[in-house]
Amino acid sequence: MKPLIAGNWKMNGTLVANESLVKAMLDGLAAQAPGADMALCVPAPYLAQLQSLLNGSAISWGAQDVSSHEKGAYTGEVSATMLKDFACRYVIVGHSERRQYHCESDALVAEKARLALAHGITPIVCVGETLAEREAGQTEMVVKRQLAAVIHAVAHCTSEIVVAYEPVWAIGTGKTASPEQAQQVHAVLRAQLAAATQHPERVHILYGGSMNAANAASLLAQPDIDGGLIGGASLKAAEFLHIVASAR
Ligand code: 13P
Repeated sequence: MKPLIAGNWKMNGTLVANESLVKAMLDGLAAQAPGADMALCVPAPYLAQLQSLLNGSAISWGAQDVSSHEKGAYTGEVSATMLKDFACRYVIVGHSERRQYHCESDALVAEKARLALAHGITPIVCVGETLAEREAGQTEMVVKRQLAAVIHAVAHCTSEIVVAYEPVWAIGTGKTASPEQAQQVHAVLRAQLAAATQHPERVHILYGGSMNAANAASLLAQPDIDGGLIGGASLKAAEFLHIVASAR
């Protein structure tokens, strides 16, 4: 299985900046045969732009959230059908910033994952503990609870999801989980997937949290780390391509 390196632009970008960033990435890729699958998850208003810039390239695109409703009176929400209109391959669900600032529950995240799959979009399901939870020895319990809700909702489609382990204390802080710390949690998640699907090895388990050009290789060398979900470093073409090149 090829590793997957996915960028999460979060709430960053402009039409002008996106175009030069994506063009720089595509130019860089022309010189480097990628050993990894790649994706960029961008703010919904830029999906049309990314579709036109990336169509036919080696980079897929996706969104950062999706509504748990099919359609109707849900002002401000974006449905899975709409994401499909822009040929999104992926959608991030349950990012810690959604859980934290928008009070998303495990059940809501699970419903979003189920709906995405039903529309042929691969959900990138984020799980991760806060610093307080880690210090209280609850890391395993928290990530297993978060993943269990999704497994319960998607059932026989579990092998179709992507999981991203993103320790909340490592996101945007410059503090990365050590490769050993990350591997330990990834192994727990793999074992949980093995109990739910016959093909746990087919599920990409990405690491996210201050991954950058300097630390990517050692994280990606771990047996259960199948790629990365990259925030800040996905806003710089050279840095993102360096991470892609580390994933071989
Ligand atoms: P940073 O890489 O900026 O720490 O963000 C990680 C993340 O939240 C990706 O979804």
